[in-house]
Amino acid sequence: MNGFNDRDGTLYADNVSLETIAKEVGTPCYVYAASEIRSQYSALRSAVEKALPADRQPLLCYACKANSNIAVLKLLQSLGSGLEIVSEGELRRGLKAGFAPEKIVSTGVGKQRSEIEACLEAGIHQFNIESLPELERIAEIAARMGKIAPVVFRLNPDISGGGHHKISTGRKRDKFGLSAERIFEAFRIAEKLNSIKALGLSLHIGSQVFTVETFKTAFEKLPALVGELRAEGFAIERLDIGGGFPIIYKDEKLLDLDSYAQWVADIILPLGTEIIMEPGRYMVGNAGVLLSEVLYVKETQDRTFLVLDAAMNDLIRPTLYDAWHGVEAVSNRGAPVRTYDIVGPVCETGDTFATERTLPDMQSGDLAVIKSAGAYGFCMASNYNTRPLPAEVLVDGDRFAVIRKRQSYEDILEKETIPDWLE
Ligand code: LLP
Repeated sequence: MNGFNDRDGTLYADNVSLETIAKEVGTPCYVYAASEIRSQYSALRSAVEKALPADRQPLLCYACKANSNIAVLKLLQSLGSGLEIVSEGELRRGLKAGFAPEKIVSTGVGKQRSEIEACLEAGIHQFNIESLPELERIAEIAARMGKIAPVVFRLNPDISGGGHHKISTGRKRDKFGLSAERIFEAFRIAEKLNSIKALGLSLHIGSQVFTVETFKTAFEKLPALVGELRAEGFAIERLDIGGGFPIIYKDEKLLDLDSYAQWVADIILPLGTEIIMEPGRYMVGNAGVLLSEVLYVKETQDRTFLVLDAAMNDLIRPTLYDAWHGVEAVSNRGAPVRTYDIVGPVCETGDTFATERTLPDMQSGDLAVIKSAGAYGFCMASNYNTRPLPAEVLVDGDRFAVIRKRQSYEDILEKETIPDWLE
């Protein structure tokens, strides 16, 4: 049995009961099902394999900002994935997980000197450049290091693509990318820089992009631009078409991967470039749950609150993006239902995972999961309220392993010091 499944009224991850994990690891903890990550990877792989010829297969660079646990990275690396990174921290994780530098692309509007150096030292596939000052800085650092930096320029296509305004990245007013005019300027500048090899373009319009048409509208900007750039004599050898593939949180209609791949075949393939994709959420989102224990069932005149031991510091998506996440009981799943508001212990009304959800009758000590928490879950967690970061667990068939220990109070407190003058 794959992924999260119900067995006689108890929730399992693959073949491991979530009750067992809670008993052995404690709560709150993130639980990921390896089988689900594998099947997402291979679904995308087969969609592109069907639509594109064998010698023109895209480099899939998993956007590890979605979930950067080294074990998760190792799993994706072993499947053949490349990696998209936005920081030196992510580069270090990627290298530790065994990704070949030639399969790593570095993105982001604010690459720091040390990060640029580390990427050049490692010999990554490319930098996706987002501004002219960034181009100058990479050129200067590469020249000093005696390297040639492979770069592509990120186009801002002025398209609203994301499922929420905070995760839409392709509008003119967003901080991301360069306008088409600036891209020409960037190529002209790059031509004169010995330490830069400008190789193409990149694009990422947002996250949770539900309609293939939105992708298509963005892709359709590329052929004309590529044609004009080539007419000016610039070599366009690579097109990185970004991530943004959605997952189902509630009842969204999923992007049809086959039509997506077909559009890539129709619009991008004829341009004759290497193709790169950067899927993040899609690979891991539905492969993870946040497993939590009910601390109290609190009745007020108006509502019944399930107070969990997980909070907004563990999973910030509901309060940050008003994101809807399913909540389910782990045991006695067939019991008569009641309506609950599901909250955490943090001192904010915003520490609410969900309102007016029907769940089987729950008692203090029962377990619940917040679903679809594999992407942008743990990696966005914080120590707010001095709550330790939760543990992470990977389940694979009959086995499971703690892939990140729960943070201890000592871990949190050891970084802080009281200056002498306050002693
Ligand atoms: N490539 C670039 C350049 C990106 O900025 C991102 C995501 C991706 C790829 C991967 O996008 P995905 O395939 O995961 O949609 N924290 C937010 C999502 C932020 C996405 C940031 N960039 C959330 O929880 O919804």
